[in-house]
Amino acid sequence: MMFMPPVTVCRPAMPYDKAAVLELTRTIWRGNDYVPYVWDHWLADPRGLLVTAEYKGQVGGLVKLTQMSAAQFWMEGLRVAYPLRGLGLASSMHEYLLALWQKWGGSAIRLMTSYRRVRVHHLCDKHGFTLINKMQSHTALPLADRPAPFKALGAGDAAAALAVLQANPLIPLTGPLLDLGWKFADPEAEIIENMLAQGHLLSWRGGQGLAAVFVDEDEGSLNLMLAAAACAPEDFPALLEDLRRLCAERACGCVYWQPACQPELLALIAGAGFSPTDEDQVFLYEKKRY
Ligand SMILES: CC(C)(COP(=O)(O)OP(=O)(O)OC[C@H]1O[C@@H](n2cnc3c(N)ncnc32)[C@H](O)[C@@H]1OP(=O)(O)O)[C@@H](O)C(=O)NCCC(=O)NCCS
Repeated sequence: MMFMPPVTVCRPAMPYDKAAVLELTRTIWRGNDYVPYVWDHWLADPRGLLVTAEYKGQVGGLVKLTQMSAAQFWMEGLRVAYPLRGLGLASSMHEYLLALWQKWGGSAIRLMTSYRRVRVHHLCDKHGFTLINKMQSHTALPLADRPAPFKALGAGDAAAALAVLQANPLIPLTGPLLDLGWKFADPEAEIIENMLAQGHLLSWRGGQGLAAVFVDEDEGSLNLMLAAAACAPEDFPALLEDLRRLCAERACGCVYWQPACQPELLALIAGAGFSPTDEDQVFLYEKKRY
């Protein structure tokens, strides 16, 4: 009889995988994995595909492909059960998702991971991703001394807002991508229209700059998340300080931002009252297809 080595089978996740996934994530990050909280939502996502990996017939891993726009995709939630690590499950799921991304006509796929996750760095290097940014989350406290000079943009402002973000003079400092809440994407019409519809795009000082922000709840407290800012570099400290005023107006506990670890940028934001959190530095990887 011929010996056949066990193979990993990647396939779309099914509702009946839930028990196995809850079990495998129970011990990840000392029981603090967020996957159990998002599993149902991820499974139902019409713009994404949740994938599980079976090894010897048992569900041993998962990963999600999320569509950010027609051509931009995000990879998240890569997990493998402790007893099955080192057997190539993560590698198989990476390849499976990349094949799907190509099949669906994606032009960019990105993921974010801790600086510690050497296996994920290796997979990204092996599969042709580029490390495009190293980021450290920062927060700043609210300022309640005077009104924040921001005004929400409307649906008719989409083209102008897109042009401002694409020609943003801060790009050499901050990079071109929008932080949409642990997922990054290039500004493009579909994404901008969506942000406008949710009231997330604000003009600053009557058009001198623009800020993309949203409020996020984290363990019961509200944070004002900075997705992007656009203005002349010399105005940036003032815009950041005004975001702290907006934070006070929106009754948030802090402004939260994940800037690139560039010394010039970090010095500038420190001057505007931002300080680093104790969260891990994260690496942002990107793969493009032309
Ligand atoms: C990260 C994780 C998904 C990896 O799963 P895994 O199934 O053990 O990974 P694999 O066995 O497929 O190994 C991945 C690659 O890393 C390589 N690798 C293993 N140890 C390594 C090391 N110390 N340094 C560099 N590469 C390493 C493997 O050889 C493999 O590459 P290959 O396909 O070229 O041989 C798993 O450890 C996990 O679930 N961790 C907890 C959750 C987590 O951190 N997820 C990542 C969030 S972005």
